[in-house]
Amino acid sequence: MKIAEELDIPYIPRAKNSLQKLKEIYELDYLLVVEQNQVILKGKEVLFWHPSMAVPRLKALREGKNDPMLEAMKLKPGYHVLDCTLGLGSDALVSAYGVGSEGHVTGLESSKYIAFITRWGLENFNGQNTHVKALLSRITVINQRYEEYLKNQPDDRYEVVYFDPMFRKALHNSPSMNALRPLANHHPLEQGSIHEALRVAKFRVVVKEMAGGLEFLRLSPDYVVGGKYSPIAYGVWEKNE
Ligand SMILES: C[S@@+](CC[C@H](N)C(=O)[O-])C[C@H]1O[C@@H](n2cnc3c(N)ncnc32)[C@H](O)[C@@H]1O
Repeated sequence: MKIAEELDIPYIPRAKNSLQKLKEIYELDYLLVVEQNQVILKGKEVLFWHPSMAVPRLKALREGKNDPMLEAMKLKPGYHVLDCTLGLGSDALVSAYGVGSEGHVTGLESSKYIAFITRWGLENFNGQNTHVKALLSRITVINQRYEEYLKNQPDDRYEVVYFDPMFRKALHNSPSMNALRPLANHHPLEQGSIHEALRVAKFRVVVKEMAGGLEFLRLSPDYVVGGKYSPIAYGVWEKNE
C-alpha cells in the first residue's frame, strides 16, 4: 500500500487471483509484486534487484586484478562519485568499492520503477555476500534525470561524474538488461550534459560505451580506456583548469 502511494500506482489486493488473471482483469502490462522480502516488477520479463555482474568484478578486484572502469575513473579512498545512470547499480557497487569506507556514490535514475527497485534492493539485500553487504550503505539513490540534477549542483561537487547511457545497440542479452530496457530512459547523452558534468566534477568525467561504438566520435573524449581486448570502452574527459 505504502509502495503504491510512493510510486503513484494503484494498489491491488491479490486475493486468490493468479498474477496473469490480475493483469487481464485490470488490463496491465506490469505488476509490482512484493514477495518474500523482494520487490519484483513482472511484465513480459521479470525485474528485481541483485548484485549481478558486480560480484565477479568485486572478486577480481579483491584478488588484485584491474577493473577498466575504476582505471578510467582513477578513484581514491574518500572520493564522492556521481553515477548519473544508476540502473540496477552494478557499476555503482564497483565504484563504492573504489572509494572505500570514507567515500560515497550518489546514483541518479530517471525511471521511478528502476530507481525504486534498486533502492529497495540496496536497503533490503539479505544475500550471503558480505563483501557486497559492506558496500550497500555507500550508495544513495535519487530518482531524477541527470540533466535536472547537474544544473543544480555547485562547481567541483563530485570528484568523478560517471555515465553509462543505454547503448545504441543492445550488447547483452542478459535477462536483467532485457527486463530493464523497456522501462529505461534511452535518450542519448548530449555534449551539453558532458560540459555540465565537467563543471560539477572536480577531476574527470567518464562515459561507458561499446568498444568500436560511434558515440565517442560524436562526443570526443580526451582519451579512451579499455576496449582493445574487451567489448567495453571508457571515454575520459579530464578537468583541466
Ligand atoms: C545502461 S543502464 C545503467 C546500468 C548501470 N551502470 C549498472 O551497472 O547497473 C542506463 C540507466 O540509466 C538510466 N538513464 C538514462 N538516461 C538518464 C537520465 N537522463 N537521467 C537519469 N537516468 C538515466 C536508464 O533509465 C537506465 O536505467
